[in-house]
Amino acid sequence: MLNVSVIGGSGYVGGELTRLITLHPSAKLQATYSRSHAGKYVHSVHPNLRGIVDMTFTGEDPVRLAQSSDVTFLSLPHGQSSKLIPEMIKTNTVLIDLGADFRLKDKDAYIRWYNYQHPSPDLLKEFVYGLPELHRAEIKKSRRVAVPGCMATSAILSLVPLVREGIAGTGPIIVDAKVGSSGSGGKPSLATHFSERYGVVRIYKPAGHRHTAEIIQELSNIRNSKVDVSMSAHSVNMVRGIETTSHVMSSNIPSLKDIWKAYRSFYADEPFVRLVRDLHGANKYPDPKFTVGSNFADVGFDTDPEAKRVIAIGALDNLVKGAAGNAVQCMNIMLGFDETEGLKSPPLHPV
Ligand SMILES: NC(=O)c1ccc[n+]([C@@H]2O[C@H](COP(=O)([O-])OP(=O)(O)OC[C@H]3O[C@@H](n4cnc5c(N)ncnc54)[C@H](OP(=O)(O)O)[C@@H]3O)[C@@H](O)[C@H]2O)c1
Repeated sequence: MLNVSVIGGSGYVGGELTRLITLHPSAKLQATYSRSHAGKYVHSVHPNLRGIVDMTFTGEDPVRLAQSSDVTFLSLPHGQSSKLIPEMIKTNTVLIDLGADFRLKDKDAYIRWYNYQHPSPDLLKEFVYGLPELHRAEIKKSRRVAVPGCMATSAILSLVPLVREGIAGTGPIIVDAKVGSSGSGGKPSLATHFSERYGVVRIYKPAGHRHTAEIIQELSNIRNSKVDVSMSAHSVNMVRGIETTSHVMSSNIPSLKDIWKAYRSFYADEPFVRLVRDLHGANKYPDPKFTVGSNFADVGFDTDPEAKRVIAIGALDNLVKGAAGNAVQCMNIMLGFDETEGLKSPPLHPV
């Protein structure tokens, strides 16, 4: 049985990691770290875990926790894991970081997108970008993974077949993202306060969203040349969920059948990517509502031949395939478990 620790256990992602570890047949939660809730029961912060996780948060030094853990998950705000990882990396623990500190390969991209001088640029190459659908073989060989951002995961998974097959032209790809309130984490602010956020369709980042950097990095790797991406991000009236609608211009729009083939062949063996494209009914395209609580990413597409546009659609639960579920999937790959262990619960309906 693996001993697992969660650093940042009181946050939304930390709570979801804790929930998923309870479902895993070969992993046991050894400790969950919180500064502000040390000594309090886990269910005092994550009430869904009452009667399931009979444990209190610890305030013990995170590096010491890593020393005694087979696997250490870090789910901390940007800039915090890079303070701990230089020490943790000297231990034998498997490191899975859910923040942004080790996702980008280029240290200058941190200055450009995060206005952040990375304190350990030499360690960036130690981490694999934790998207199994693109990097399974590298994840398998690695002991350090940086889990992608939630919007980046949705956008990348829905766009990869189009870039890989050369369907996307060389012009910029425009990503329109909609995100639920849990995407902002558990710490309240005026923007996330219920009466301010309820009912909104609020564009909060028309350009320059940080996840754009990951989308550019990964799609450029696929194409072997720079892919230009511009993303707009909106807060919408959901708790969980991301939907990305991406606009790809192409002088040569293939038939719907050929696009379908491109998606089918790329995702044929993927346990957590579902292709959603029905001709009839109310749910013809991916909708995050039908992924809630699960590790599925739903992808779909349509075309607008007159405007020479292909539309790629992605939907997922930001806390599961967009964070904790994907992290557990990476753990399974690294440690040689069946990739779906602990991740088999179907989405909820209705929610
Ligand atoms: N929410 C999402 O949908 C989502 C999806 C993908 C990735 N992520 C990423 O995952 C990370 C966690 O996100 P979240 O939504 O769980 O945020 P959150 O709910 O705000 O939780 C952050 C956690 O970090 C701890 N923390 C804050 N400052 C700290 C510090 N200086 N040192 C040590 N611990 C600190 C907090 O606990 P204490 O104050 O109790 O110590 C809290 O448990 C972020 O990097 C986020 O970008 C989030």
